[in-house]
Amino acid sequence: MNNIVVLRPDRHQASGQTILKNNQYLSGRYELENILGIGGMSVVYKATDNMLHTFGAPHHYSAIKLVSESMRDNVQAEKLLFNEYAIASRLKHPNIVAIRHFDVCREREQAYLVMDWIEGLLLEELMYRQAIEPEFALILARQLIRAVHHCHQNQVVHGDIKLSNMIVSPSNHLTLIDFGISSHSTEPIPYLTELRACSHRYAAPEVIRHEAQTLAADIFSLCCVLFRLFTGDHPFPDTSEAAEARGWLIPILFSKRHPLDRLLQAGLSWNKQDRGVSSQDFLDVFEQMRPEDLKRRWF
Ligand SMILES: Nc1ncnc2c1ncn2[C@@H]1O[C@H](COP(=O)(O)OP(=O)(O)O)[C@@H](O)[C@H]1O
Ligand SMILES: [Mg+2]
Repeated sequence: MNNIVVLRPDRHQASGQTILKNNQYLSGRYELENILGIGGMSVVYKATDNMLHTFGAPHHYSAIKLVSESMRDNVQAEKLLFNEYAIASRLKHPNIVAIRHFDVCREREQAYLVMDWIEGLLLEELMYRQAIEPEFALILARQLIRAVHHCHQNQVVHGDIKLSNMIVSPSNHLTLIDFGISSHSTEPIPYLTELRACSHRYAAPEVIRHEAQTLAADIFSLCCVLFRLFTGDHPFPDTSEAAEARGWLIPILFSKRHPLDRLLQAGLSWNKQDRGVSSQDFLDVFEQMRPEDLKRRWF
């Protein structure tokens, strides 16, 4: 059995942030391999879980999220990371990233979140590389809707549904990631508001106006992603207040009577009171929808 070694902190500067070097350990257990992504507040590494590796587990990689160095003095950033753990670790679903645990590395005095490492491409990258055929869009949309429905059944608002927060594996399995700004629909958490930075391209108009996130806001973002999946385009040029004043019309894909259009017309309503559709409605329609329904015109 290998001895587990604890190395001393050793850091170097990159892109204005301090990044931990590869092959360093957290809590003597997780060996950092490479950076998977850098966000505004966090860095995500691929890591070998030496405990699992030592015992011969076939899947011994993890993804580890740390508060980025530039945010380490901000107590709220760590609270937000813990919030991500507290909310997402209660969700168990094949299309939602599995969160394993939250811990603090004493040597580094650094909190971190451990999750399953998911092999694949962000949906955003995938769509950049290839056109998505309607049949494939349907396969992906169904998995995304199942994930969002599971969140909403558990009163969890994901808060940041967008193409770069889902990973598609080589076998076309979709996983929803990044519960970094998620919340319970029944308990808005005040300390999160100052640090919340949703993606304005997908955020509901009321979220851009800094109103509390609701399940209806997720429905708006879900519809933006669905629209992009089936058309390649975003439904609106932008969702700012100026755009609201101009009153963008929601484009029709097939006809007003097509089930997909009916969902999108409702879900993309500017006022959340008009959205009137739930994740259950999306699930009902998408579990029934066949690829030929995406070719047929509904007059
Ligand atoms: N579990 C994971 N498996 C593989 N890659 C991941 C995983 N979680 C995050 N990533 C990568 O790290 C990036 C940033 O992670 P994310 O949770 O979206 O944080 P942020 O809040 O900074 O956007 C993602 O876009 C993705 O490329
Ligand atoms: Mg993200």
